[in-house]
Amino acid sequence: MSKNAAELDRAQSVNEIAVDGFDHIEFYVGNALQACYYYHHGFGFDLIGYRGLETGDRTKVSYVLKQDHVYLILTGSLNATSDIAEHVHQHGDGVKSVGFRTRDAKAAYETAIARGAKCAGAPVEHEDEFGKFISASVQTYGETIHTFVQRGDYKGAFMPGFTAVKNKQGKPVGLAAIDHVVGNVEIDKMETWVKYYQDVFGFYVYQYFDASDISTQYSALVSKVMANKSGSVKMPLNEPAEGKRKSQIQEYLDYYTAPGVQHIAIATRDIIATVTELRNRGIEFLTVPQSYYDALPARVGEIDEDIAQLAPLGILVDRESEGYLLQIFTKPVQDRPTLFFEVIQRKGAKGFGKGNFQALFESIEQEQAKRGNL
Ligand code: FE2
Repeated sequence: MSKNAAELDRAQSVNEIAVDGFDHIEFYVGNALQACYYYHHGFGFDLIGYRGLETGDRTKVSYVLKQDHVYLILTGSLNATSDIAEHVHQHGDGVKSVGFRTRDAKAAYETAIARGAKCAGAPVEHEDEFGKFISASVQTYGETIHTFVQRGDYKGAFMPGFTAVKNKQGKPVGLAAIDHVVGNVEIDKMETWVKYYQDVFGFYVYQYFDASDISTQYSALVSKVMANKSGSVKMPLNEPAEGKRKSQIQEYLDYYTAPGVQHIAIATRDIIATVTELRNRGIEFLTVPQSYYDALPARVGEIDEDIAQLAPLGILVDRESEGYLLQIFTKPVQDRPTLFFEVIQRKGAKGFGKGNFQALFESIEQEQAKRGNL
């Protein structure tokens, strides 16, 4: 039996925790007000919810941003000693929680705990004039958590505790939904986390790459994509692999000082329009050498887009048996070289751009070398 088949077999022996998809991503940041400006103006999110001193919260402030199906929460501390302040001190700005939407948050939480997950927040039933809302959280890699969210027919501003914000519509750029969320884990810990998603969530290994697929002269990575059976949640995991120099995954781990979320991929229906607009607003992306585009027709065959339009934007293309995908990666979005975003448009392809990893790695290494970390 191949390794993948063996893993699939084991996953099938565990009932999947019912998760409908990503609900939201919560960031802990050093200055939520300014981060909000970046996502509101730079990425075009609507500001829809707020909590802080004015709503009776004495310890933290949060802004909720929305674009189509993508929800982000930016949370900052109002004091020096909170978990939020400590998280930011240790890791810089980064993702605290990857929220999963579920129809029964208590059952999801209790199942996860019974299977060995650590509690990050026992179930809380919040209720206000807009209805009932239940959430509960479990730990995953590093200090990151998963929050099970049960919205039911809750009609308030995002969740209880928030006040609705009006008249803060952004100018959307076409970001439609979270496609996948990637975590970097410690060296030699890949199997531990694969097993965690299999045994606790009942997810399975959807795809697998190793150093023979993805490596440059300097660095390599091993990647396994954990997913639920419907495919509505995809959580790739990366582990640093030995290279001549420091792997980009190791650079992340050194600066984040822990495992954590490396990138959030957001789907668009028109990547050329989305990236053109993001670039106009000053969002910075990794660049790829012209040689990448010279080699592209031979690599991916016929595509709907004009390569002469993709090249100046830096949009990458990858072909699979069922179709192709277009993708691009931002530079890190905070001071430390840790979290970044991906914009992706799928045209039949279900993978993650394996054929681009090589080109991408080379580009990331150019940036890493500029930072003196290669
Ligand atoms: Fe990705």
